[in-house]
Amino acid sequence: MRIYDIIKRKRDGFSLSKEEIEYFINGYTDGKIPDYQIASLLMAIFLNKMNDKETLYLTRAMVESGEKVDLSSIKGIKIDKHSTGGVGDSITLVLGPMIAACEVPFVKMSGRGLGHSGGTLDKLESINNFKVDISKEDFIQNTNKINISICSQTTNITPADKKLYALRDVTATVDNISLISSSIMSKKLAVNSNGIILDVKVGSGAFMKDLKEAKNLARTMVNIGKNYGRDTIAIVTNMDQPLGKAIGNNLEVKEAIETLKGKGPKDLLELALILGSKSLVLAKEVQTEKEGRKVLEEAINSGKAYNKFIELVKYQYGDIKEIENPDLFPRAKYIIEVNSKKEGFIKKINAEEIGKCALKLGAGRETLETEIDLSAGIILNKKVDDYINLDETLAYIHTNDKIKGEEVKEQILDIYIIGKKNIKDQKLILDEIY
Ligand code: URA
Repeated sequence: MRIYDIIKRKRDGFSLSKEEIEYFINGYTDGKIPDYQIASLLMAIFLNKMNDKETLYLTRAMVESGEKVDLSSIKGIKIDKHSTGGVGDSITLVLGPMIAACEVPFVKMSGRGLGHSGGTLDKLESINNFKVDISKEDFIQNTNKINISICSQTTNITPADKKLYALRDVTATVDNISLISSSIMSKKLAVNSNGIILDVKVGSGAFMKDLKEAKNLARTMVNIGKNYGRDTIAIVTNMDQPLGKAIGNNLEVKEAIETLKGKGPKDLLELALILGSKSLVLAKEVQTEKEGRKVLEEAINSGKAYNKFIELVKYQYGDIKEIENPDLFPRAKYIIEVNSKKEGFIKKINAEEIGKCALKLGAGRETLETEIDLSAGIILNKKVDDYINLDETLAYIHTNDKIKGEEVKEQILDIYIIGKKNIKDQKLILDEIY
């Protein structure tokens, strides 16, 4: 077999066989096939697409390219959750403790934020001493003891994805359904949880800007999961405006704490309840989502979910003083109010633009090497459909750089679109795929 022939076949619109896909994945992982040939193949895949069978072969080859994490010594039906990424998406920090408080093991290997979207690991690391690089043994032991563990992906799983993703990032071949699905699902399948719940975001702050494409991505990932014998479901959720009100690492942790106490933003809690009730059904803890919702609400109202978060922090060496008293989290030097120059209903808050503002303040990273400012970010005081008076505060900018803060203030004034009330309600859940 020759990589040249594989590139040519894909270029000419043929589908690739299992053997051809394994050949290029193995050759690339081992360093025997150079970047320039894989870059060319990726572009051919991007332009001519892959069918479901090829996508499945690609995912399998990527899973097999590295180590697998065996979680079978964790008791119970283990749930893993993945979000395709968004702005202000601190759902993992809320959902994990909620379902763990209901005796369902929540196992999650997370990633870091890149570009305008945040990452769970960075958020957790804004808690003093919180350790995300725990061993596989600790990950398993903690989950057996307290039903929850969240750690960084081990470096040895899906090495093929690591190389491919870096190459896709610089060759304009990221946003292809087969390439995204295989990348996400290979990482999920290399870890043997029992149930996988996928939150596919759509809208201005998401990878997928188009609902049809997002549904297609969700369907493709659910098919891959099922093909592996995993209970997999996906929900397609709105990421047109940021989720919750906080954007930025320790600001989102504080918001997650409030939400676990039942006092957070409605949309964040609602999404956690929806994903949570589906998780409890997947884990066979309850029969129906309605029942699941009741159990989860009880976990919030009784303080069990919040206490579970405290346990998670303790077991991963974090300082619980900050959790118990969130005022102790480091605060940015400047808090700048963004006051409205107009009056009316908020019609739109472009999530990607808000994410980019947070990035500019230092809350996110441009490249994997960027050091981030854990206290920087934005708190939205108004969201879509809220009414704003002249001079009332739209948002608060938390920054250690006054000049950048003032620039972001002008940008936020442009990002908020104010006018007459939206005719259509903003739906949080746009589709469900089983
Ligand atoms: N997240 C991933 O892990 N991979 C992709 O290709 C896109 C988003």
